[in-house]
Amino acid sequence: MTSYTSRWTIADALKVHADDPTTTMPVIDQNFPTMDEAVMIWDTGALRNIHGQTVTFKGWHVIWSLAVDKIDLTDTNIYDEWHSRNNRAYIGYWYSKTGNGDDWQWGGRLLKTEADLRPHEWSGGLIMREGTGNVVDMFYTSEADSPINQSVPSVSSGQIYADENGIWFGGFETTTEMFSADGVHNANAQQDPYFDFRDPHPFVNPTDGRIYCIYESNVAGMRGDFTIGSDEQGTIPPGFTVSAGAQYGAASIGIAVLNDGAYKRGDFSRDQWTQLAPLVTALGVNDQMERPHVVFKGDLTYLFTISHHSTYTGGLSGPDGVYGFVSENGIFGPYKPLNSSGLVLGNPSAAPYETYSHFVDPDGYVQAFIDTLPASGTDPNNPDTFRIGGTLAPTVKIELDGDRTFLSEVHGYGQVYAQASWPVGNAWDHRPAAG
Ligand code: FRU
Repeated sequence: MTSYTSRWTIADALKVHADDPTTTMPVIDQNFPTMDEAVMIWDTGALRNIHGQTVTFKGWHVIWSLAVDKIDLTDTNIYDEWHSRNNRAYIGYWYSKTGNGDDWQWGGRLLKTEADLRPHEWSGGLIMREGTGNVVDMFYTSEADSPINQSVPSVSSGQIYADENGIWFGGFETTTEMFSADGVHNANAQQDPYFDFRDPHPFVNPTDGRIYCIYESNVAGMRGDFTIGSDEQGTIPPGFTVSAGAQYGAASIGIAVLNDGAYKRGDFSRDQWTQLAPLVTALGVNDQMERPHVVFKGDLTYLFTISHHSTYTGGLSGPDGVYGFVSENGIFGPYKPLNSSGLVLGNPSAAPYETYSHFVDPDGYVQAFIDTLPASGTDPNNPDTFRIGGTLAPTVKIELDGDRTFLSEVHGYGQVYAQASWPVGNAWDHRPAAG
């Protein structure tokens, strides 16, 4: 396999523009519905198979979410509870008969507390293990802030069960760490106290049948000590100069490969993974490329990642949203930014923080959560007019047309589409018997 590290360059990012209707989320109504009054959720993903398809289990739709229980149900302290949510984050799950988004039932915590190696559970993915009836692997980020920033892609395994009343889980009693930031392929805590190393996304690569895992990371090296040269700049206009602080943007999308045979044994331990050169870096552009995930479509490989307005560097700017890259040569690239700029779907400037953590499924359905929504016609940055989200946004659809994407459909809040069922051909039948 040939591996390239592709770049999201300053010249690419100069083409990012908010409010292009083909790459902008619709403005959400401040009267959005809430999935459950007692819990606030953000990053969310559907139960899927290792090929990336969303699956139903015995006819049920299942999703996981990062969650916090509301402390104050009167919402007096909701602003503080929401903005400190990462300190209490755990992974919970929802189930629904329809996937329409209006009948999600909260199932509560997924991992047993004794599975936690660190205080916080951050993003990853919930995957049915191929070759089993009901084994599920929850890939996630085991996170702690002290004594130093620790962030380890990890996995906990369990079993999923269903009957006509709902979904429940067993197992999830232990956690296995997969790999850590190594200071060679990606920055570690010694190089960058703010390093990002999280959001494991495992998948089978269709061209070689091997299991890989991609993840959010930063470029190896001392924070702020990078030279932003012509490779990082790309083809910039005459007279353009790189602004101060660009070198603090050092996001990368990392990749590791699993030893052959380990997946079938369910062995995801440290000695089974090898980290490789990152797929994409954003040196000089942005310091975070989060929740990376892939969609294989025909001969093209689409690599999506979420990023923030606040993590652009060197005077560059763009909306919070989902960005992406496309390769004609499979998972290792080279990649070029979608829509020339990399922007796939950003928040509208009238509601710049309305959604985040977009996840694109193989059919182009994009699910995200509502963060903060200003009242219409008010200053979008004035927190007094915000309504805090903590619930799923309307699902939208994008068309993937070669190296371009287009917003094409808007669906229900939290609507989920499945591409496959599990167990195959043995769905729990919750519909009335025919005839
Ligand atoms: C994206 C993200 C992830 C992380 C989680 C923590 O919204 O920053 O990278 O796993 O949120 O809440």
